[in-house]
Amino acid sequence: MQYSNKVAVITGASRGIGAGMATVFARHEMKLGICARRIPEMPVAPKVYCVAGAVDVTNAQAVQRFANGIAAHYGPIDLWVNNAGVLDPINLMRDIDPADFKRLLDINIMGVMHGSQTFVRHRHQHGGGGVLINMSSGAAQSGYPGWSAYCASKAAVERFSEAVAAEEAEYGLRVYAVAPGVVDTEMQATIRSTPSERFPFVERFHQIKANNQFNTEEFIAEHLLAYAFDPARRPQTVVVRVPNQWE
Ligand SMILES: NC(=O)c1ccc[n+]([C@@H]2O[C@H](COP(=O)([O-])OP(=O)(O)OC[C@H]3O[C@@H](n4cnc5c(N)ncnc54)[C@H](OP(=O)(O)O)[C@@H]3O)[C@@H](O)[C@H]2O)c1
Repeated sequence: MQYSNKVAVITGASRGIGAGMATVFARHEMKLGICARRIPEMPVAPKVYCVAGAVDVTNAQAVQRFANGIAAHYGPIDLWVNNAGVLDPINLMRDIDPADFKRLLDINIMGVMHGSQTFVRHRHQHGGGGVLINMSSGAAQSGYPGWSAYCASKAAVERFSEAVAAEEAEYGLRVYAVAPGVVDTEMQATIRSTPSERFPFVERFHQIKANNQFNTEEFIAEHLLAYAFDPARRPQTVVVRVPNQWE
């Protein structure tokens, strides 16, 4: 197996893209640490090497403990994917409770910072190297009405990733902020169920569903593995957009 000597951690792996990624990584017989607030189910594959845990990424100590546990079990971590993220609150900015706005920033920005810091320190203890992938979104590039918190957070993830990439390049760490395209997860179901008064672009997402213009979780996972481990497909930029599978 091509990647069977690799150890990877995926946050936000209890459903959606993170769970799909865990399944694909497990099919490659990688050694996995997967976590979310709800303990993820084990991926289904012929041979599964996986430790699952309950970790809230807003809790820096919990992230650190999880990483220590995975490294003790499988050895040094090669790939860390900060995938956990939320989209709520979806609403016009003037109507958002600041506490809800801050909760999203805590998960989507501080959660990424906690995972990144844990992994970067871990790699420094093991002679450098490693690949860090932070999940971004097309929403990092333009401000969608109703998504002010989410757009702000994903734009922050992209600039954060570029800064960390510049800091760590000399130690051999590669950092990518990857926008996965549109994937039909619970997050998309939430988007489609939002009234247009709170999300004026909702019709676009009904059209995407009607036309089945999605990337699958498997398609994204295989791209991430190529970006991480295939020198021929190594991205030349920190910010990377997974191509549309349906085009
Ligand atoms: N789906 C898309 O079209 C799309 C497009 C662009 C970018 N993305 C990004 O891709 C990532 C995954 O999205 P998805 O569509 O798979 O979303 P999803 O189906 O809603 O899954 C989100 C995952 O994040 C976990 N999570 C949320 N808050 C957490 C926290 N505080 N600590 C730990 N885990 C937490 C959730 O598990 P628990 O609730 O159990 O904690 C769940 O496993 C996100 O960063 C999202 O912004 C998605």
